[in-house]
Amino acid sequence: MHLRLASLGFGNVGRALAIMLAEKADDLQRRYDLTFSFTGAFTRSAGGWIAPGGVSPAALAASKWPKGGSAVMPVVGNWPAGELPPPVRGDPREHLAMHTSVFAGGAVEFVRTCPADVVLELTALNPQTGQPAIDHIRAALIAGKHVVTANKGPIAYAYRALRALAQEHGVALRFESTVMDGTPIFGMAQAALPATVITGFRGLLNSTSNYVLSRMAQGESLEAAIAGAQRLGIAEANPSNDLEGWDGAVKATVLANVLMDADLRPADVLRDGLGAEAMRLAREALGPGQTLKQVVEASRDKDGVSARVRLVALGADDLLAHLSGMETALLLHTDTMRDLTIVEGEGGPGQTAFGVVADLVNIVRGMGN
Ligand SMILES: NC(=O)c1ccc[n+]([C@@H]2O[C@H](COP(=O)([O-])OP(=O)(O)OC[C@H]3O[C@@H](n4cnc5c(N)ncnc54)[C@H](OP(=O)(O)O)[C@@H]3O)[C@@H](O)[C@H]2O)c1
Repeated sequence: MHLRLASLGFGNVGRALAIMLAEKADDLQRRYDLTFSFTGAFTRSAGGWIAPGGVSPAALAASKWPKGGSAVMPVVGNWPAGELPPPVRGDPREHLAMHTSVFAGGAVEFVRTCPADVVLELTALNPQTGQPAIDHIRAALIAGKHVVTANKGPIAYAYRALRALAQEHGVALRFESTVMDGTPIFGMAQAALPATVITGFRGLLNSTSNYVLSRMAQGESLEAAIAGAQRLGIAEANPSNDLEGWDGAVKATVLANVLMDADLRPADVLRDGLGAEAMRLAREALGPGQTLKQVVEASRDKDGVSARVRLVALGADDLLAHLSGMETALLLHTDTMRDLTIVEGEGGPGQTAFGVVADLVNIVRGMGN
């Protein structure tokens, strides 16, 4: 089977995905009879291009698009994986015009217009509303295109509505990379936990907080630890989203809504005693043998599912206390396997791209939603 991909957003994850699809092209073809091309891509500042004949992942990765913010896709054509396209002769713009067209409309129009089997929603997270990614996904599903997203906003704010829309239009909506990069949380729950009720979870889901608290435990000041996380590219210039638990609240919402059939929004998640000053005070109050972590939790009682993010002083007998640096972990409470824990070492765009690849393979295996 051949899947035509249209990518909305093409940043770190989009580039890592093109590279991974190119590197794994032979394997994907041999094991799943699956090949890929990109028929278009669109970003906020560069605009978009459409190539109905498809550009191979290798050619797209080699093109470095959208370096320089250009809407023009510099190499076009459908080359076998791993091969680079021939050099463009004559006027590159004439050559381009034969194969690709610059797309002048907006993102939703791009989603509707681009001839694709799967729309990849890889735009930046809006933690306050999940938009405009919700609109992008809605347009793709209504147009009968499968959707794979790494953007947790739409799943946190509109999972039930988007899932219903996908079912109505007979297409898949998959989002493995929204929590813990490509760690197979949703795939595992779907494929490997039949007849299981997930009754709650606990996790360390925010790499920046984990990194900063680990460094502080080694004697570094809060400021130095935050600066270190920023140098590594895991913390943003303003790390409050991470340290004040908003990232954790969005992830808790995704997990609770998908795995526990809740209908929460990030604002429903209790965020208690978080932030830089709270971290400093909580560290000073730690007892012997205790380790401070930002813990995301959810549980179900007679009133339904509730979730929270808080700083917790963990004892040495707690598995989560032993995670360090950028490691993340999720412990699921189940009625069949009791507690199941999955730990991710250092993640990043490569692992996130893997989650997208897993979603694409699972669509072809018929694992829709
Ligand atoms: N990086 C990771 O390891 C990781 C892990 C898990 C999940 N994710 C999620 O994956 C998604 C992509 O991450 P990333 O690291 O690739 O981000 P990134 O490098 O910042 O790239 C984001 C891309 O989205 C585009 N974009 C933003 N808003 C847009 C809009 N309204 N319309 C069209 N394009 C838009 C940007 O275009 P311009 O540059 O032109 O603005 C850029 O191409 C995010 O939602 C992120 O939270 C990332």
